[in-house]
Amino acid sequence: MLYVNNLNVILDDLVLAKDMSFHLEPGKVNVIIGPNGTGKSTLLKTIFGDIHAKSGKISFANETLQRKQLSRWRKQFGYMPQDIRLDVELSVLEVVLLGQLNALGFRLDDSVIKEALSALDKIGLLHLADRPVNKLSGGQCQMILFAQALMRKPKILMLDEPVSALDLHFQHVLLDHLDTQTKEQGWITIMVLHDLNLAAQYADNLLVLKNGKLIANGHPNDILTPSLVKNVYNVDADITKDATGIPFVRTIRSNRSVSIKNKEPKEQTIKVAEGVI
Ligand SMILES: Nc1ncnc2c1ncn2[C@@H]1O[C@H](COP(=O)(O)OP(=O)(O)OP(=O)(O)O)[C@@H](O)[C@H]1O
Ligand SMILES: [Mg+2]
Repeated sequence: MLYVNNLNVILDDLVLAKDMSFHLEPGKVNVIIGPNGTGKSTLLKTIFGDIHAKSGKISFANETLQRKQLSRWRKQFGYMPQDIRLDVELSVLEVVLLGQLNALGFRLDDSVIKEALSALDKIGLLHLADRPVNKLSGGQCQMILFAQALMRKPKILMLDEPVSALDLHFQHVLLDHLDTQTKEQGWITIMVLHDLNLAAQYADNLLVLKNGKLIANGHPNDILTPSLVKNVYNVDADITKDATGIPFVRTIRSNRSVSIKNKEPKEQTIKVAEGVI
């Protein structure tokens, strides 16, 4: 279990975590949702030890996060931060191999290379292995960083908006793979998403943040309601449920009548200069 107890994070007078407590179980996909600037990335960075909490305790497997033992703490993590650029002169295969940095020696073991190639194959990107990463598209980069995070064989896998640049196909490749691996390997997966329907489909546990507070925590079937969406995003939504109880969120445009009115053709006066036609 990963325990976060009474966490308080304040940066430049901004309260980004306010007395936050929760625990996350192995083998579950935990999804964090919440408005822009509410502290989702900050929470991941704090758990990773990049940002220091004002108070509180974060612990995993009888170990507590401490500044002195940061490198040991981080060995347990795979972490895919938000919006990273791959502006390095390395091939895709080399970047994926960096996920195994701890295990890499002066000579590369064949088995490690095979594993990296297999990781690329599983997500359908083996054909990119020799390509330079700085020539890839944004979505391709995101998938390569996902493969790199998997190579670490983490106990805790954190992904900050991992599908933000992905097309529909790769969103599902990544999330299906993540879900299967989380369950098979018993990882604690924590992922930030903005798409509520993807969150509803893939979260075993949903954590809802607003202004640095954890305002709801539970299975999406139980907590994703129109009133929650209104409270968090100030958006009206219809929520229906499929046969398995998974919610489907359909937002309601607040400016619908205005936009239809604007689409009505305007009476136009066309002036034609005398003598031109
Ligand atoms: N190191 C820092 N020092 C000061 N303020 C910070 C720092 N890091 C983040 N912030 C501020 O904290 C707020 C929350 O940032 P954070 O990146 O956690 O938001 P978020 O919920 O991930 O938003 P988004 O959905 O846009 O990614 C922002 O206003 C940001 O400017
Ligand atoms: Mg963020």
